[in-house]
Amino acid sequence: MSVARPKIEIENLSLDFAADGGSPISVLHEIDLSVSEGEFICIVGPSGCGKSTLLNIACGFLEPTHGQVRIDGVPVERPDRRRVFIFQNTAVFPWLSVEQNIGFGLRSSTADENAATVQRYIEMIGLAGFEKAYPRELSGGMNQRVEIARALASNPDVLFMDEPLGALDYLTRLKMRADLIEIWRQERKTILFVTHDVDESVQLADRIVVMSKRPASVKAVIPVDLPRPRSLDDPEYLRIRDEIFHLMGIDHFGRNEDAPSDSRARPSAE
Ligand SMILES: Nc1ncnc2c1ncn2[C@@H]1O[C@H](COP(=O)(O)OP(=O)(O)O)[C@@H](O)[C@H]1O
Ligand SMILES: [Mg+2]
Repeated sequence: MSVARPKIEIENLSLDFAADGGSPISVLHEIDLSVSEGEFICIVGPSGCGKSTLLNIACGFLEPTHGQVRIDGVPVERPDRRRVFIFQNTAVFPWLSVEQNIGFGLRSSTADENAATVQRYIEMIGLAGFEKAYPRELSGGMNQRVEIARALASNPDVLFMDEPLGALDYLTRLKMRADLIEIWRQERKTILFVTHDVDESVQLADRIVVMSKRPASVKAVIPVDLPRPRSLDDPEYLRIRDEIFHLMGIDHFGRNEDAPSDSRARPSAE
């Protein structure tokens, strides 16, 4: 029996950005990561460390300086319609209705098949009854669902999600996390999900990739072997969350662990 090949292989990946007149800025440094088919991976790390850059390379929007990303064993050289990228700010078309947005770019052989696909995803995201509504009539959370449904309707095998819930209010985010897990359970896509929210990563991921400050390398890969939905006060959940905070150099009050202890305790005078 042959061992299944990983779905995504990131190998010795580095990226330098050319700086105006100066030496190049190293953003990613020798990143290695292997992702199995159907795995839900979250990537966390400090702001500006290179998470979006990594996703952009994996999706084929940006070329690395060294190393490569392979999907199904094939080097990624350009974007591919089998893979979709979902951004923080919704990219739904304002001039199209919910059903037109979700159906946009569908290529089934018949119009009936397209309509059935659209309806299936409208139901999955809980927007039945809103088929004819336009984005301006919907909340930010609803539009973000439309965006996710549109991405899923195109039947990608890999989803790249860059802080897709980042612009939503707290309660909507909680609900969307639960919805996303439910959708993933049904569809089993391979997902690379970037977030700066440690809690979000522990709720969602099979494994969490913790990145260092820039130039970013992989600091640790933490498996989360907890059944879903995950309880926010399960001791194992809290242990993993605190381990990640610790790896990121902050305690769970958001204070910098490197700071002297009395300056940590005292509120800033500014
Ligand atoms: N096109 C670019 N040219 C030069 N520097 C860039 C470019 N895009 C991003 N950077 C720099 O690369 C670093 C990583 O950016 P990014 O991947 O967006 O970080 P993150 O998503 O982790 O917040 C940042 O310091 C950013 O300023
Ligand atoms: Mg980013």
